[in-house]
Amino acid sequence: MTLRNKQIVIAVTGGIAAYKTAQLVREAQAEGAQVRVVMTASATSFVAAKTFQALSGNPVAITDNGLFDQAGMDHIALARWADLIVIAPASANSIAKLTHGEADELLYALCLAHQGAVAVAPAMNQQMWSNAATQENLKHLADRGFLIWGPADGAQACGEVGPGRMLEVTALLQLMIRQFENSAFAAQHILITAGPTHEAIDPVRYIGNRSSGKMGFALAEAALAAGAHVTLIAGPTHETCNSRIRLINVVSAAEMHHAVFQQVDDCDLFIGCAAVADYRLTDVASEKIKKSDNTLCLELTPTADILSDVKQAKPTLFCVGFAAETEHTIEHASEKLIRKNLDMIIANNVSCSDQGFNSDYNSVEIITADNQESIARMRKTTLAIKILDAIHKQLINHKEKSNVRFLKKSHST
Ligand code: PMT
Repeated sequence: MTLRNKQIVIAVTGGIAAYKTAQLVREAQAEGAQVRVVMTASATSFVAAKTFQALSGNPVAITDNGLFDQAGMDHIALARWADLIVIAPASANSIAKLTHGEADELLYALCLAHQGAVAVAPAMNQQMWSNAATQENLKHLADRGFLIWGPADGAQACGEVGPGRMLEVTALLQLMIRQFENSAFAAQHILITAGPTHEAIDPVRYIGNRSSGKMGFALAEAALAAGAHVTLIAGPTHETCNSRIRLINVVSAAEMHHAVFQQVDDCDLFIGCAAVADYRLTDVASEKIKKSDNTLCLELTPTADILSDVKQAKPTLFCVGFAAETEHTIEHASEKLIRKNLDMIIANNVSCSDQGFNSDYNSVEIITADNQESIARMRKTTLAIKILDAIHKQLINHKEKSNVRFLKKSHST
């Protein structure tokens, strides 16, 4: 499922090709995408909103008497939710409105508020397509980063023949899939840790933490989409991943340490995203500890630090750590960057309940020895792509400094 976990808004504007968009919604869902449909008022005269509601399984967002909010889906919430907006069909009128930044319908306000990619799949009469106004509008949109998908050439609903047909559903689907793929890490082996570790107290109890694994799994999916071979070593978590990711399940910090060292030899990049326990029980009770009225003291021993040990064993391997902090985030993370001799650390403040641990959202600071970049709160799936982009840029500097195997390999592929 190539669009697994992707959140896609499919927007329908007024055009006869709107009936094909129903199939696009189905196909995108079959590839694993979560789909929300937005319609302009004129689109509803071509296909009923109920059709899209039934297919997508979600309420359809339509501009309704100037009120944007329908079923709780206002344009800002949708803009944040979407990884990608695909406008199919995009009429000449909608293209003109997008060009001028109008916001008189939910779709256009949504596009103004959305920070990610917007694709338009034009569909119109061939004369309207060739008209200089349409062509200039599309050029403006392309210059602003809009993706222009199509149109195709051929017989049109109006009886004319020429350019202006909406691309076929299979072609649009392929473009959607390709949008989430790149080759930045082609043929590289990326090793990622994710989730918590559980340190046994006795046969039924353990010390754990609130990590869900979402961030590490999102990084693994983004690395896979960027062409990497991915090994994901995960502590106990409910997350699932693409079957092309090699998933190794572990429980304790010691097991994670062992698994990492079994994989690290042939890896090109190590990302330690797991919330590894800093302490384990000095002695794990072999039987369940019985309750009593006395205070119970557990003696804890520090666990081996996986990141520090990897960096010590493989000094030229590009190693990225995470820092989960509740105060003085940047200072504490910078100290860890130096102490663990890392190439990059991703600092997150985990004191807020709406991001960080066990949330779909996070905001981070990407810190290296000579740079610091703030990434605002966003979905972990999008954040993972941004973190990998930052790593890729930094690897180019790293290559100049240490001539690491990572870039030698990437040049030869
Ligand atoms: O899993 P989620 O619910 O999506 O939440 C994501 C997250 C909050 C867990 C993630 O963003 C995060 O911050 N991960 C690191 C958590 C952590 O353990 O931070 P730390 O500051 O205690 O550790 C610093 C670094 O050292 C981490 O990269 C950690 O993997 C590593 N470490 C820690 C202890 C140890 N024994 N070995 C290690 O390698």
